[in-house]
Amino acid sequence: MKLRYGGDYNPEQWPEKVWDDDYRLFDLAGIDTLTVGVFTWALTQPAADTYDFSVLDRIVERAAAEGRAICLATGTGAHPAWLARAHPEVTRVDFEGRRHRFGQRHNSCPSSPVFRRLSAEVARRIAERYAGHPAIVAWHVGNEYGGACYCEHCAAGFRDWLRDRYGTLERLNEAWYTTFWSHTFTAWAEIEPPSALTEHWRGPDHTAFQGITLDYLRFMSDAMLANFRGEKAAIRSYDPGTPVTTNFMGAYRPIDYHRWAADLDLVSWDCYPPDDDHPEWMAFTHDLMRGIKGGQPFWLMEQTPSMTACRDVNPLKRPGVMRLWSWQAVAHGADAVLFFQMRAGRGASEKYHGAVIGHAGRDDTRVFREVAALGAELSLAGDAVLGGRTPARVAILFDWDSWWALELSDGPSRLVRYQEVVRDYHHAVWAAGAGVDVVPVTADLSRYDVVLAPVLHMIKGDLADRLEQVARRGGTVLTTFLSGRVDEDDNAFLADVPGPLGDLMGVRVDEWDARPADVVNPVDFGDLQAAGRLVFEIVIPRGAEPVATYRNDFYAGTPAVTRNAFGAGEGWYVATALDRAGVGRVVGAVLDRHGLRGPYAGVPGLEAVVRGRVTFLLNHGAEPVSVTAHADAQDLLNGVRINRGEALRLEPRDVMILQ
Ligand code: GLA
Ligand code: ZN
Repeated sequence: MKLRYGGDYNPEQWPEKVWDDDYRLFDLAGIDTLTVGVFTWALTQPAADTYDFSVLDRIVERAAAEGRAICLATGTGAHPAWLARAHPEVTRVDFEGRRHRFGQRHNSCPSSPVFRRLSAEVARRIAERYAGHPAIVAWHVGNEYGGACYCEHCAAGFRDWLRDRYGTLERLNEAWYTTFWSHTFTAWAEIEPPSALTEHWRGPDHTAFQGITLDYLRFMSDAMLANFRGEKAAIRSYDPGTPVTTNFMGAYRPIDYHRWAADLDLVSWDCYPPDDDHPEWMAFTHDLMRGIKGGQPFWLMEQTPSMTACRDVNPLKRPGVMRLWSWQAVAHGADAVLFFQMRAGRGASEKYHGAVIGHAGRDDTRVFREVAALGAELSLAGDAVLGGRTPARVAILFDWDSWWALELSDGPSRLVRYQEVVRDYHHAVWAAGAGVDVVPVTADLSRYDVVLAPVLHMIKGDLADRLEQVARRGGTVLTTFLSGRVDEDDNAFLADVPGPLGDLMGVRVDEWDARPADVVNPVDFGDLQAAGRLVFEIVIPRGAEPVATYRNDFYAGTPAVTRNAFGAGEGWYVATALDRAGVGRVVGAVLDRHGLRGPYAGVPGLEAVVRGRVTFLLNHGAEPVSVTAHADAQDLLNGVRINRGEALRLEPRDVMILQ
């Protein structure tokens, strides 16, 4: 079995005689999977009453004849110009209330009845035509769902969504706390989408009513999910089983991917890290994407082989980086390594975006050579890796509601960014070489020894009980400042902070101080001074013992980190935004309690990841790395036997796959 290898292929953009060359090069590079049709709506439906599949037929037939697997898209990531002209309602109204006209992509109103009908209809016709085709291994619906719309259709959809959620206006008024500022709603029709024209000031994060804005985010995520469902249902009426996916964007704030999980057969995502210096950025995001469907393998749907085009400055991936990051994705659970894009287009905004095949169509470029070398290598590990699971004992909770609620909140500090804090904790686990799942708050926690819940602002359902159970049976639960603050409606708990987590943590937070980013309060661990920043909660232990204390200010000497014995386990509370040294210390102590540090922890640049029965060693650093083999193994990439205790050397950017 082979890990899938290929990517987005848009041959409708160039003459058919070039296709011969494309396949010659695909053969050389070991490309076996092509995602086709992602932006083809105007091609397959050139007018309201005309569908024309002649070009898509040739693309599909050619790919199949060449023995490639096809991930077939419905093409609805951008609507056709004629559609926008005939039905102006399909374009979005933005946050400022401006009705957009035809342009760009990802620009369709998710609530527009016309868009819903016609996108599902084009998906239906594509499924009708191609379902059952033996080359098709997956369906790709839309593209990178995201953004928001504030039009009248969305307003109406929002009101319906609210009726479903709350049933009565009384319940809605209570949830939104509308007695404040005389907002009591007496008819559903009075409710407006929260925008620059209504509740907001200074942009989308500054709202007078967090509850309204939070519900609009939930609604918008669900509205786009309804688009996905509409197309998926159309596909399912012709194809009962082939997996249906859409490409996610990692930790993308506007869409709550956990709410989508049940509707997806396969998670796939597009990996465009901020620069070439952040292997932990990808490690985190892969772990988050893998966690969406309970650890099921995912597809790396897009990555650039070389550079992006949409940034002001678009650096190249250095030699070896594409290979290293591809294997990193596999190590974290990817069963497919796909690129955007297979051949560079000639025009428009992505003409300089990296591609496997450049404008000159050469097979002797550095990028092509690296792609071809990886193609050969991927076939060596497929059997050992495909379908393999990550056996993590550590979970990090990730929750879009908490993310939204925290960043919409007025007070205590706009400087606390949800992702940054969560990433700091993930980084600490990653650096200690322990496997970690990033999971929704509804996940089954009984499999984990350690559950980290940084900035878990909102506590929903029975989560507090389930966290207590983790500790009761001997596990460790950690949470931080700004956790346990609000209920599902974003209303404060009428209790001491951290609300329902108080017993488990054995503390109460008496008050909290927020300071500018440059104010540091040293946090004293005895043998380590870490830095605390942004928010300083003043903690009164109620059973917990201090682990570290603040050094400065009127709360000098009070606890900044505490540990509480609870059942057979512990609850740890971190009351400020610690720097990475501090987070590393706390997380290290928690991992040590369970013996969870990895065998190669602390080796600079080296990431070790276990998937199934395979250990991946990835040297992200610019220096060679030497370690001692932790077990007898075989290196799958070169067949060499390795004995436990033997010296292993990895060149910069090199990879070893040990089985
Ligand atoms: C996204 C899109 C692709 C392409 C790439 C470019 O991921 O899905 O269509 O625009 O970005 O990086
Ligand atoms: Zn709309």
